[in-house]
Amino acid sequence: MNAFLYRDGLLHAEDVPLDQIANAVGTPSYVYSRAALEQHWNEFKQGFSEYDASIRYSVKSNSNLAVLALMARLGSGFDIVSGGELERVIRAGGKPEATVFSGVAKSADEIKFALESGVFSINLESQSELMRILEIAKSLDRRAPISVRVNPDIDANTHPYISTGLREAKFGVSFEEALDIYRIAVQQSHLKVVGIAVHIGSQMTLLGPIIDALESVIDFTERLDAEGIKLGHLDLGGGLGVRYKDEQPPTISEYCDAILEVLTRRGCPLSISIEPGRAITANAGIFLSRVEYIKTTESKNFALVDGAMNDLIRPVLYDAWMDIVPIQQSPVESRIFDVVGPVCETGDFFGKDRKLAIDEGHLIAVLGAGAYGAVMSSNYNTRPKPVEVLVDGDQFFEVNTRENIDQMLDSEHIPSQFL
Ligand code: LLP
Repeated sequence: MNAFLYRDGLLHAEDVPLDQIANAVGTPSYVYSRAALEQHWNEFKQGFSEYDASIRYSVKSNSNLAVLALMARLGSGFDIVSGGELERVIRAGGKPEATVFSGVAKSADEIKFALESGVFSINLESQSELMRILEIAKSLDRRAPISVRVNPDIDANTHPYISTGLREAKFGVSFEEALDIYRIAVQQSHLKVVGIAVHIGSQMTLLGPIIDALESVIDFTERLDAEGIKLGHLDLGGGLGVRYKDEQPPTISEYCDAILEVLTRRGCPLSISIEPGRAITANAGIFLSRVEYIKTTESKNFALVDGAMNDLIRPVLYDAWMDIVPIQQSPVESRIFDVVGPVCETGDFFGKDRKLAIDEGHLIAVLGAGAYGAVMSSNYNTRPKPVEVLVDGDQFFEVNTRENIDQMLDSEHIPSQFL
């Protein structure tokens, strides 16, 4: 769903003109649409309505408490990767018992917190982690619910930094090692073997690798079954891609149908989880920034905006192309710009060679910024993190206020002898 449309030459988020938000909260800021977030989640839910499936929203893509609260109200489960994310889910009214804990190097404290909170499954990624979970479960005298994350050695066909299912990746364990882990786990009274997990990558635009991963995991569960190791659950991870430029990812319903086809054809008896992040949040958000200066050099026109790589790092980190549009369609002549920020690095850009009709003082939006935007922001160059705003119809709410300088500096201390 596209909740960001022009009306009378002015880009709106749902029914709110974006210049109104910029004037009220300042820039740079992220703006999210409630309608789009809910619509995308509901598409996953409907896609699996005929199956025993849980949609566990992947918190890492956008972990603002208000976004999590919306997901919780829809009945979503959650996929988390840290104790901090678990705390967010709880504070937002989400259910730990509908939460899976993924991640390749969970600390003892995080495992303890997860067990005490009663998460649905800890998706473990090594024998050492199995032993750590077992030890903690014994010390708490609890039964730890576990799944083993397998690495099926399948190429997700995405950016190498977000491709997680190849043998060389740090994620998951091979099927052979998983077999050893299950053999140990089923013997332990302090462990409850819930199921199996797989996640081969993010921003996947092809169904083939997702289906291959699913088939290979089903093959493996049949092997386990033959050994008398019976699982109840299969967590297929997240990873469905979105369109930033000219990608042609499957729609949410095509994705669900393709998975259902395999589950049905294989007579798979397991309940499933899926952990979508980006497909729910990316196109439900934009990044709003104001042009401070136009600078023209011999070789380039630069639009120097007030947002920077510390606010939105995807373009430089993954060479990600994200669309940039003006908020106000204006009669100024279009020119080719590099849209760059104030940070002291040449990598501080949002887009290069973009044709834009903009001038100093104008507002721009980077589209598709609802996923892996605010969550990856930092204070680099001692810049406050951006504001986040949630739009609901003709109302908008500041759901993360801008940090002030004291908040940025308060945790730092100068030892007295250096004063
Ligand atoms: N489940 C697991 C175990 C994951 O590792 C991830 C993402 C997801 C689910 C959600 O994947 P999604 O549906 O959002 O693709 N910062 C990068 C993306 C990192 C993804 C990490 N894992 C980016 O900006 O492209």
